[in-house]
Amino acid sequence: MSDSVDQVQKKLTQLISQSTSPREALRSSELKSLYAELPKLPVNERSAYGQKINNLKQKLETAVNEREESLAQSDREPIDVTAPFDINAPSPDLLPTGQGTTHPLNTELANVIDIFTRMGFAAVESRQIDDDYHMFTSLNFPENHPARDGYDTFRTSEGLVPPAHTSTMQNRILKAGKKDLENGGQIAAISYGRVFRNEDLDATHEHTFYQVEGIFVSSDANLAQMMGTLRSFFEVYYGQKLKTKTQPAYFPFVEPGLEFAIEKPAALGGKPGEWLEMLGCGMIHPNVLREAGIDSAKYRGFAWGGGVERLVMLKYGIEDLRHFESGKLAFLRKFA
Ligand code: PHE
Repeated sequence: MSDSVDQVQKKLTQLISQSTSPREALRSSELKSLYAELPKLPVNERSAYGQKINNLKQKLETAVNEREESLAQSDREPIDVTAPFDINAPSPDLLPTGQGTTHPLNTELANVIDIFTRMGFAAVESRQIDDDYHMFTSLNFPENHPARDGYDTFRTSEGLVPPAHTSTMQNRILKAGKKDLENGGQIAAISYGRVFRNEDLDATHEHTFYQVEGIFVSSDANLAQMMGTLRSFFEVYYGQKLKTKTQPAYFPFVEPGLEFAIEKPAALGGKPGEWLEMLGCGMIHPNVLREAGIDSAKYRGFAWGGGVERLVMLKYGIEDLRHFESGKLAFLRKFA
């Protein structure tokens, strides 16, 4: 009888050490038949036998637990703490797997830049921190002139200026193009980028938005060329013929100063006679040319500047400007 217990122990111990489901050994028929022997034994032998199979069961349980533990260990990657660590190695479980998309403003800005560069304009990004000189002085805003108040301009504690319009780039573009002009060429450039105003927020006002500015200077630049350039741009951007008009407006850096409007196209929900102001524009003021070292008796130029959001809102029928900076995925996915 004791032989049989030893045999079962040997067999099951071996089974446990090799099985991937070792706990089954504790329910095996071999173990059950050992228990089944108990009532058949003479009464005086039962106690010793019972203890023997209980011991066996305990040993087997320990073996099962150890086996299970070692199976769990072998599932894990061993960690080599001495291995060199590549900080650029991809860690797929930490990175989002879904593909991102381009923000609609970036897509449309690229589109706008593309149209102007195909017309022959160079493109430069505007600065997001600038100074008082480029924001006002270089643009013919006299010191303490009330027109300076019209821009709700933020200032940093150091006295720097988050620009309130892309016109801050005019003086730089003019200075950089002076040589080309004197060599018989022209200045043709756009600048684009973020601008900032201390606005009360509503559906058509944001503290942060995008503008595109254009500058053209030559010996005979004129308003007809400007109107043609702007009309061409809007017709390409909206993919259709448009009615355009201007009305007088005041900006210290242009003379005359104008607002450029298009008739809201029927295809975009417009009624005849419904005009939309799209940007400010005009002939560059002689003081602005002079400030950049350009001879205003020999050269003249036109400039314009306007918001990108307004263009995009009309194109897609977007009603609230605040969607753009909101980070709302439902909005962004419409442009994915
Ligand atoms: N900078 C002006 C604005 O943001 C627009 C403008 C640009 C007007 C260039 C005239 C010429 O209000």
